[in-house]
Parts: sequence; C-alpha cells; structure tokens
Amino acid sequence: MKNEYILSGETENLRLDRQNSKPHYLIDDEISYKDVIFPENSKILDVACGTGAFSEYVLKHNINKNIHLEMLDNDNSRLEYLKKKLSEYEKLDNIKLSFTCDDARKLPYRSNNFNAVVNRYLVHHFPRNDNSSQKLVKEAHRVLKPNGKLIVIDVIDILFGIGTTNTELRGLLDELRAVMPLDLYGSLRLPRIMAQNGFKTENISFEVRPCLFAKKNELLSEYEEWKHRFSLLEKSMNQFFGFEKTKRIKELFLSELLKDGTILYWTKTLTIGVK
Ligand SMILES: C[S@@+](CC[C@H](N)C(=O)[O-])C[C@H]1O[C@@H](n2cnc3c(N)ncnc32)[C@H](O)[C@@H]1O
Repeated sequence: MKNEYILSGETENLRLDRQNSKPHYLIDDEISYKDVIFPENSKILDVACGTGAFSEYVLKHNINKNIHLEMLDNDNSRLEYLKKKLSEYEKLDNIKLSFTCDDARKLPYRSNNFNAVVNRYLVHHFPRNDNSSQKLVKEAHRVLKPNGKLIVIDVIDILFGIGTTNTELRGLLDELRAVMPLDLYGSLRLPRIMAQNGFKTENISFEVRPCLFAKKNELLSEYEEWKHRFSLLEKSMNQFFGFEKTKRIKELFLSELLKDGTILYWTKTLTIGVK
C-alpha cells in the first residue's frame, strides 16, 4: 500500500503520543464529550486512528456499553503500537476492539455497518490537488448505518500560524503555502462535501476555533517539537521547495519562535454529519 503520510518514520508513534499529551492537543477542547456518547451495542470506526488518541477518548466515554471499536490506519506500525497500548481495554468483557491496516479512502467494510465513524487530523495530510477528502466522506457515508454519525476533527494554519515581523520568513511562508502539496485547508470544504455525499443538510454542523498553538511558557518545548517536525518534513520539502529554501525557512522559523512576543496559533475545525 502506498503511504503518502509526510510524517511517517520510526519515531512517529512516540511523536504522536507526545503531541497528544500537550495541552493544545486536548480532545476535550475540540469536541464536547456528549458528541461521542453512543448507544449500547454501537459499532464505531476510528479512521486514521494513529496511536489512538480519538479511539481512547471514545472508549473512555462509552465504558460498559458493549461497544465494538474498529481502528483503521494505513501504517501497520501504528496499529501494532496501539494494540499494545489498549491491551487493558481488550481484557474487558463488554468492549470489542479490532484493528485493520487499510486506506481511509477505500474502506474494507460492507455498507450500512457502523453507528459512527470518527476521524481526527487526517484531512490536512491528504494530497492537495486530488479528491481524497471526497473519497473519505463518501466511504464513511457508505459504511454508516442510517442516522449514523461522521465526526471529523481537523486543523488549519499549522506551520503558517506564526505571528512574526520577520519579512524574509513571512515571504518564504507565503511561497511555501503556495507549493505545499498537502490539503492544508481541506477541512473547510467538509460541510460542502458532506452535503454532496448524502449527509442530511439540516444536520451538518461545523465549528471553527482559532487558538494559541503554544502558550508563552510552552514555546521552548515547542522549539524542540518543531525541530523534530522539520527533520521529518525535510526530505520531501527539499523536493518541492528546494534545498536552500528548506534550510533557510527552518532556521528562521526556529529562531523567530524563541523571540519575545512571537505567537504560534492554529485553528481547529469540527465537522459532524448525520446519514
Ligand atoms: C496526524 S496522524 C493522526 C492520528 C490520530 N487520529 C490522532 O488524532 O492522533 C495521521 C494518521 O493518519 C494515517 N494516515 C495517513 N494517510 C492515511 C490514509 N490514506 N488512510 C489511512 N490512514 C492514513 C497516518 O498513518 C497517521 O497515523
């Protein structure tokens, strides 16, 4: 299976877990827990589950309800890692867990199968100029039962949400935004895509919330995270942005990050549709 995930690498499981433990990644700030309380005996699918941040959130809020949680990712190392992480849940009688390595855009399940499909932080990783988001929504609609719910949490502005006065960095970021092959603003189209793919128009909800990516006292640890993110991005950035510009944007971004008054922000989106 072709893996286009730009951050894939040996350290990605640990990086995702570390990232999800930070205050600005708290799922409680992205969705109301009431949206993930499902009826008894529900079958739920977490698409692009990664190391299971959303899966665990769903499990935590649906204990003792005899739910079946299916987790899908196109990277097997994520799933192996997650299996171990959830081993305590697997011992519980009234929870069934299953794991499948496959593509979110072509789900290996029969139609009318799940009460809910959840998905977090995938859309901005899709390729920019294709119809991956349409495929994700279309497939989710197909595998959902009537009245089933699709919940998509995503972000926009990551990497470009830096409040800096450095004109060279601002120029380079503008250039990068224009050539970055990822669908960085894809989640803004989700309500439209859901409407086009059979979700009930009156029930599609969309929330958008700008927030600080890191508070002042977190910038130092974010410096290390961004250094690591750039090292993961570097190989592909060299190809679409060129070696010199990649090196320069990294240097400038990291040095601006530590200057007094620099802010990092991003915008979270929550889209919910009902079949
Ligand atoms: C940024 S991580 C988010 C993981 C998790 N949902 C979370 O909230 O932490 C994106 C995940 O999507 C997976 N992924 C990327 N493209 C995919 C695809 N086409 N189908 C299934 N999974 C995919 C990656 O392997 C990675 O685990």
